[in-house]
Amino acid sequence: MKILKNKRGIIFGALDENSIAWQTALKAHAAGAKFVLTNTEMALRKGDIFELAKQCDAEVIAADVTDMDDLEDLFKESMKKLGGKLDFILHSVGMSPNVRKKVPYPELNYEYFKKTIDISATSLHKVLATSYKLDPLNEYGSVVAMTYIGSERQFSSYGDMSQAKAMLESIVRSFGYHYGVHKKVRINSISQSPTATSAGKGVGGFDAFFSYADCNSPLGNATAEECAEFCVAMFSDFTKKVTMQNIYHDGGFSTMGISDKLIGNCFNCKGDCMDETFDKINIKAK
Ligand SMILES: NC(=O)c1ccc[n+]([C@@H]2O[C@H](COP(=O)([O-])OP(=O)(O)OC[C@H]3O[C@@H](n4cnc5c(N)ncnc54)[C@H](O)[C@@H]3O)[C@@H](O)[C@H]2O)c1
Repeated sequence: MKILKNKRGIIFGALDENSIAWQTALKAHAAGAKFVLTNTEMALRKGDIFELAKQCDAEVIAADVTDMDDLEDLFKESMKKLGGKLDFILHSVGMSPNVRKKVPYPELNYEYFKKTIDISATSLHKVLATSYKLDPLNEYGSVVAMTYIGSERQFSSYGDMSQAKAMLESIVRSFGYHYGVHKKVRINSISQSPTATSAGKGVGGFDAFFSYADCNSPLGNATAEECAEFCVAMFSDFTKKVTMQNIYHDGGFSTMGISDKLIGNCFNCKGDCMDETFDKINIKAK
């Protein structure tokens, strides 16, 4: 279905074929959209993004999402290259030096913390502020930002990304109001299941995150490809009045307490990692 026919956009964050942004580019192209792919100079040097651009007939423009001059150039160049105003933006960007370097949360490095917040959260405000000023988006244009449930619940190794995602989701609501009133532009975040990408696998204990969520979600984890399909729906005119929302795309995980599958896995576990806990609650693990 060409539900994005005649739609133009910018996609931030395609690094390799595992990236949520990469899969979104493929699905948006299949749905008839024209767009610019953007990432940092360093990510562009890796080279993969040009392969994606070929497949999608897309342009590539380098931009650091924290740099307002880069963003201004990006919007102006994108409109020139695509031949008109835009209809969608995907913000699929995140990075924490503290998480990457496995700094324990109580000992956060505050210089790194500032970077985490700037790259993963303030950057959304910068994208939106630049767009608000230059006015490149058509009425009912759709901005989607990627987030994770670690914004609202404690996941022990998610570190300062928890704060970044909480702030990102708050920016979605605040800017969603202002941009909605000003130009009928809608802004939402998608709270996605753990996904085996470069950013995802950088979080300590990713395999456990992934398995736990998969076991505890009635529909299982959502893949990057499925997330991409959801992004296309959110860019389309079929979701015109959805704005200021944080929407869970997680197979039901966010509403679950515990599932039979998770109980089965824990109680049939052959390891002894839970022995102490089971002892405390007087249950035999094996
Ligand atoms: N992978 C998961 O488990 C998961 C789950 C929920 C949400 N998310 C979110 O999805 C989004 C996309 O991540 P992904 O999982 O596809 O991983 P990814 O590593 O493929 O994408 C992250 C992207 O951010 C880009 N980036 C980093 N610093 C930048 C900067 N200064 N300027 C411009 N771009 C920059 C990277 O180059 C990369 O392309 C992130 O916001 C992430 O937090 C991921």
